[in-house]
Amino acid sequence: MREKLEQLRDGALQAIAASSGVEQLQEIRVRLLGRKGELTALMKGLGALAAEERPIVGQLVNTVRDDIETALTAALMAAEEMVISDRLRSERVDISLPGRHPLKGTKHPVSLVIEEICSIFAGLGFAVAEGPEIEHDWYNFEALNFPPEHPARDMQDTFFVENNLLLRTHTSPVQIRTMLKQKPPVRIIAPGTVYRCDSDATHSPMFHQIEGLMVDKCVTFGDLKGILTVFTNQLFGQKTGVRLRPSYFPFTEPSAEVDIACVICGGKGCRVCKNSGWLEILGAGMVDPEVYRHVQYDAENISGFAFGMGIERIAMLKYGISDMRLLFENDVRFLRQF
Ligand code: DAH
Repeated sequence: MREKLEQLRDGALQAIAASSGVEQLQEIRVRLLGRKGELTALMKGLGALAAEERPIVGQLVNTVRDDIETALTAALMAAEEMVISDRLRSERVDISLPGRHPLKGTKHPVSLVIEEICSIFAGLGFAVAEGPEIEHDWYNFEALNFPPEHPARDMQDTFFVENNLLLRTHTSPVQIRTMLKQKPPVRIIAPGTVYRCDSDATHSPMFHQIEGLMVDKCVTFGDLKGILTVFTNQLFGQKTGVRLRPSYFPFTEPSAEVDIACVICGGKGCRVCKNSGWLEILGAGMVDPEVYRHVQYDAENISGFAFGMGIERIAMLKYGISDMRLLFENDVRFLRQF
């Protein structure tokens, strides 16, 4: 019996020392000290011993149980501590790690150019006006002196909707809407989306324009040239050369096309300006009296100028973008650069 007890103890202490982890230790406790455990079974054998042996062996049983208990408790504590320190190590927060920056969007180059142009004209006293993208034929064409069947309508390939409704082909109808609402003096710019049935490397069926209109007493062609010179200098840099060429628009008379000295080669001649040294950036002119008639302005007592430009073209020149389609593909690698 004594030998068995000692064997049991030695085996138990070895098993405890070799155990790895809380679960194994608990298994050992059940296997030895549980109700059906090995030590418990030995204790049940005490009754069969001679009366004088019983207290001695009984005491040995107690010592063996205490030894096993003590070893188990110590090993359990150590194992639990291991678990805690493992968790502390694995769940540690490294406060020296740099934060992850949220992805910040950037403004689209077309929006940037619109904002910049609006702010230049705001400095010259122009307010921003808007109009609908689905427009009546009357505002888009007729009031701007494109009579029905007039060949000038072919200058703009129109998307028709229905019943005299169309997708506006330019921002010029905002001139009409503004003058119908407001008496002179008028000084507005109107940025917005326009549509034409046209698509290649330099044309998109949807694009953006900014329209300008100034009407007051005694506004002259000189004022037009002055304002446009200030504008192009601010947008492209001081002393950008500006020139006006005679042109035709139904709603202005006289009309001009406005060029700036090529921003790529400075006027020497390159691929972008097709060796001319000049880049066309907008159309302009003195508002035609026929337009004033449609909005009931008194053409005898007021005068004014209007101008219109394509934003994509200006963005391409300003940022050196060679294909207009880049502006509409929304590739973040491209957009992130602005
Ligand atoms: N609406 C013209 C176009 O889309 C641009 C334009 C030319 C606007 C001359 C004007 C202007 O206001 O005076 O081609």
